[in-house]
Amino acid sequence: MNMTTPNATMKQNSAPIVSPGNGSPMGGALSIKNLTKIYDPEGVNVCAVDDCSMEIAAGEVCMIVGPSGCGKTTLLNAIAGFHSITSGEIRLDGDLLCGPGKPKAEQGADRMVVFQNGALFPWKTLAENVAYGPIVQKRMSKSEANDKAEHMLAEAGIGEFCSKYPGEVSSGMARRAEIVRALINEPKVLLLDEPYRAMDALTKSIMHESLLETYDRTKVTIFFITHDLEEAIFLGDKVHIVTTRPCSLKKTVDVNIPRPRTYESLSSEEFRTLMEEVNEAVHEEAVKAFQAGERELA
Ligand SMILES: Nc1ncnc2c1ncn2[C@@H]1O[C@H](COP(=O)(O)OP(=O)(O)O)[C@@H](O)[C@H]1O
Ligand SMILES: [Mg+2]
Repeated sequence: MNMTTPNATMKQNSAPIVSPGNGSPMGGALSIKNLTKIYDPEGVNVCAVDDCSMEIAAGEVCMIVGPSGCGKTTLLNAIAGFHSITSGEIRLDGDLLCGPGKPKAEQGADRMVVFQNGALFPWKTLAENVAYGPIVQKRMSKSEANDKAEHMLAEAGIGEFCSKYPGEVSSGMARRAEIVRALINEPKVLLLDEPYRAMDALTKSIMHESLLETYDRTKVTIFFITHDLEEAIFLGDKVHIVTTRPCSLKKTVDVNIPRPRTYESLSSEEFRTLMEEVNEAVHEEAVKAFQAGERELA
């Protein structure tokens, strides 16, 4: 795995950086231009993303909302370097991740992914899980990584569970530990693919508070896929609504609710107006997806 230094200086031939929104000192501006991805299983073309462009400023919380099967995970996989793209380009702080002559981004610690179904090693404690990456990548000594893991788990409010195994804690705690495990690498961008999808509303609300606290502390750029419109507006600086498959940008809604956000924000007039705006755009696409017979994907 190629490990890119989080604060690497820009290459001289790179394109201009898109304007840093919340001014994250770590960078993390993502530029997606005319991205197309066609899968070709057994010679049958499936166009998942078509001419999709979006700009995500450094330090922005960018929420992606769209119908099931429309191509959201495909987009995330292209950014993370899990899949190749067919055409278009993706840049991070001006540097080409993938594009002409480079169909697949290299995977790197500058873009860390947190998945829907969780991915902690069940045989390691939460602290060992968090410390694992920097130790195997030889970026920290074992004791340094362990100390940092314990410190970061404590910051995330789960310090007393450091020596528990994933099977011994709730799904909410495990998910928090996974986010800490991603953040110990000091990524420029945190990529989250419906991380709270299977959770009940109460656990979800605790997860939201915890993520907002983490964001206020780190100002890491967040690319967050969700189906939950309330979640999208509560967490996001911007909500990018994407079309039914093939995925392209339909509409961007700016969320100008001040931070730090609290649950009182949810009952504001501004919040309700934004919900209506997002709902209308998503509903149109959901109807199209339903009529096209798109299947619900995991
Ligand atoms: N590896 C693959 N090979 C072929 N088709 C795929 C593959 N991964 C996803 N697809 C197809 O691409 C489309 C978009 O999938 P995905 O990006 O997972 O959607 P979403 O995350 O929005 O639910 C779907 O039609 C899906 O079946
Ligand atoms: Mg998906």
